[in-house]
Amino acid sequence: METTCIMSPRHDPFPLTPEAWEAAARERLGRDVYDYYAGGAGDEVTVRANRTAWAELFLRPRVLVDVSEVDTSVTLLDAQLPHPVILAPTAFQRLAHADGELATARAASASGTLLVASSLSTTPIEEIAATTNSPLWLQLYVFRDRELSLDLVQRARAVGCQAVCLTVSVPVQGNRERDARNRFRLPKGLEMANFRGHEQVSFPGEAEASGLESFIDKHLDPRLDWSAVGWLVRTAGIPVVVKGVLTREDARLAVEHGAAAVIVSNHGGRQLDGAVPTARALREVTDGVEGSVPVLVDGGIRRGIDVVRAVALGASAVLIGRPYLWGLAVSGQAGVEHVLGQLVGDVRRALALTGRTRLRDVDSRILAR
Ligand code: GLV
Repeated sequence: METTCIMSPRHDPFPLTPEAWEAAARERLGRDVYDYYAGGAGDEVTVRANRTAWAELFLRPRVLVDVSEVDTSVTLLDAQLPHPVILAPTAFQRLAHADGELATARAASASGTLLVASSLSTTPIEEIAATTNSPLWLQLYVFRDRELSLDLVQRARAVGCQAVCLTVSVPVQGNRERDARNRFRLPKGLEMANFRGHEQVSFPGEAEASGLESFIDKHLDPRLDWSAVGWLVRTAGIPVVVKGVLTREDARLAVEHGAAAVIVSNHGGRQLDGAVPTARALREVTDGVEGSVPVLVDGGIRRGIDVVRAVALGASAVLIGRPYLWGLAVSGQAGVEHVLGQLVGDVRRALALTGRTRLRDVDSRILAR
């Protein structure tokens, strides 16, 4: 049970707020890399709405409750986690820091945090797995060459990944105008490390516009439909989590096709601009699956109260992406650890201030109508 006292952040030498982390990271990163991480699709309406939609959910605190100890632990697909904050899959982490995915994996280990490794990592899944004692999942894109995807899943399973997280929000790439303007590509020395030796899936060296967009056009399978979930469930040998669901209908289809969990996500506003913010979609999805599988959520979660709000709407856990990338950019492993520590400390504080002692007991009564 996780009952650590709330820590005062006052003497922390690191940035204190999510915005300050981002500003510090921005100073260190080249514009193309900052834009790649920070940016979204089109007018970035969904990027912004992901953040503000949480803030629209006001809370009903209870008072005079003994909150000298609070418990943030949760259970997720048989794993006992000390807190519900998971590191979302994010691509190409060696763009942010030379230690890239290994720094993130060490930080996950130190914090007991579940890590979802991206298939588009700049470090192979085997090395990530060897670096962390935390529970590890593999995020998967299904390539036109399905054998390549399946081979990666089998490698991930062989090194102890406990689930495969199928991203379903990228049938084609979102209109990421920042990346097009910057002609985003991987610098020399960085590669899509999971596909070493497969020349045909290397990242374009020179691109007219976004190299990632050309890559996705060429390699991801836009014909993918629900049968792909069934195929993966039959072949993966580990639970399949479907990431990128925003509607009741799709959540039910995911369950019908054998998903072990669903993640409410609009890909951080990087795919369909104008897509519903995840704070608004979450209740529809949790209602839709009626408790049959855990529901997770990402998008705009920055504060402890956002985590409490997500749990109140039925989420079992949350994922953060950009916040830990800023920590990685600022200070490698220590930066990721600090971002996580600050957020988890803030979850404890939020519980205490709402008069709740166990995160897993939080329900919709905590939300004002
Ligand atoms: C990759 O998944 C991205 O959103 O850039």
